Amino acid sequence: MADKLIIFDTTLRDGEQSPGASMTRDEKLRIARQLERLKVDVIEAGFAASSNGDFESVKAIAQAIKDSTVCSLARANDRDISRAAEALQGGASTRIHVFLATSALHMEKKLRMTPDQVFEQAKQSIRFARNLSGDVEFSPEDGYRSDPDFLCRVLEAVIAEGATTINIPDTVGYAIPELYGNFILDLRQRIPNADKAIWSVHCHNDLGMAVANSLAGVKIGGARQVECTINGLGERAGNCALEEVVMAVRTRRDYFGLDVGVDASQIVPASRLVSQTTGFVVQPNKAVVGANAFAHASGIHQDGVLKARDTYEIMRAEDVGWATNKIVLGKLSGRNAFKQRLNDLGIELASETEVNAAFAKFKELADRKSEIFDEDITALVMDESVTAEQEHYRLLALSQHSEMGERPHATVAFAAGADEFHAESDGNGPVDASLKAIESKVQSGAELVLYSVNAITSGSTESQGEVTVRLQLGGRVVNGVGADPDIVVASAKAYLAALNKLHSKNDRVAAQG
Ligand code: KIV
Ligand code: ZN
Repeated sequence: MADKLIIFDTTLRDGEQSPGASMTRDEKLRIARQLERLKVDVIEAGFAASSNGDFESVKAIAQAIKDSTVCSLARANDRDISRAAEALQGGASTRIHVFLATSALHMEKKLRMTPDQVFEQAKQSIRFARNLSGDVEFSPEDGYRSDPDFLCRVLEAVIAEGATTINIPDTVGYAIPELYGNFILDLRQRIPNADKAIWSVHCHNDLGMAVANSLAGVKIGGARQVECTINGLGERAGNCALEEVVMAVRTRRDYFGLDVGVDASQIVPASRLVSQTTGFVVQPNKAVVGANAFAHASGIHQDGVLKARDTYEIMRAEDVGWATNKIVLGKLSGRNAFKQRLNDLGIELASETEVNAAFAKFKELADRKSEIFDEDITALVMDESVTAEQEHYRLLALSQHSEMGERPHATVAFAAGADEFHAESDGNGPVDASLKAIESKVQSGAELVLYSVNAITSGSTESQGEVTVRLQLGGRVVNGVGADPDIVVASAKAYLAALNKLHSKNDRVAAQG
């Protein structure tokens, strides 16, 4: 029997550390449910001690998820570890993930601790965590840039204290595949009790090698857990992309000889959900989940694929969840059919009130757009007026006038808590005028650092426009996403969604730095 490769998804923790990718508890819960459908082995749900919001998210996910292990990150101190255990309490299968930096640079400059102090703290923290959980992972942060002798000393000690998984982070994405693979192999060979733990890889993508490094850690180093995120979401250049690792190991099973438990047909729905939730658009040429990943443009390729698919395709689009756009519902569809479709898409709304709100939005959309696709439904439930959580600002009405040669003008009505505002402005274009109108009343002072529009379903001007707006204010970066067949309305929704995030002051402690 082949060994199993454990897939540890950290989209909701390391992925969320991406500037602007912060998610609400309900958004995280929705993604966690999709990760469970994807059958990932471990879901890192957050960093419970970092904020009350994170604590509540980890707690909600631990309660809801039954088929994947739910994990919380914790710094190597009693308070963080207790908080993680508290958030995970009552979960079907849970893990505490403790981290402490071990590189000379981090110990001296960041922690201001001596190696002996770090050694003691690592040991104590794992002893403490093991009293609270039978499943404890230890990560020496910046592990790859740590002195191997010191690392051996620390890792041997934490395994002796009961750490069940040892994860070697390449925190800054500095590794080279062969070197990283051998680094892990060397540690495993030198540490006498190495076989008492599962070894794991955790690679960042600063040099574009996160997936290659992770795979080398598996192949050369013998790691049996990969830490990764959907779409490679993560700080700076991101983390190792789950979809790429899973499909590499699957497609080249002849080389890796490993089994992965993931249901690959859920990959594209997971990718879409994460992209729509965070506003991080997937580049078209991204492996596996990019819109062009299975598109053949050149005549020679098209001809080849028509004659024999495997001339130019090493994976089948449908195996990773690409379905040709299907018209799933229309204006005559009833509430039950709509609810069933939500179920099929793995979307569980928290209450019947939310289902009703979503259904009302669906009817509204179906009146304006004859064909409703799965992507439209996913976008619709992203709308904050459906999942009313944290909704302070809400778009009520918008009208705008633009004519060639004239300066566009917009009038916007929106609610802010119990108050209603009517605002107007002109602008360089109708979108500019609408956002300026809103800003004239809200006066957030936030800087618009990104504005992007994408068609939700490709290939048609009838598609809904999905707009991402990224705002920056006093060191905080938030994304807002809005969808509508009218891109000016979508833009106003996205702007208000971003303002809602700024409004919900959910500051947290960073896992690194
Ligand atoms: O990159 C890193 O070092 C981490 C640890 C907290 C595991 O994300
Ligand atoms: Zn990381």
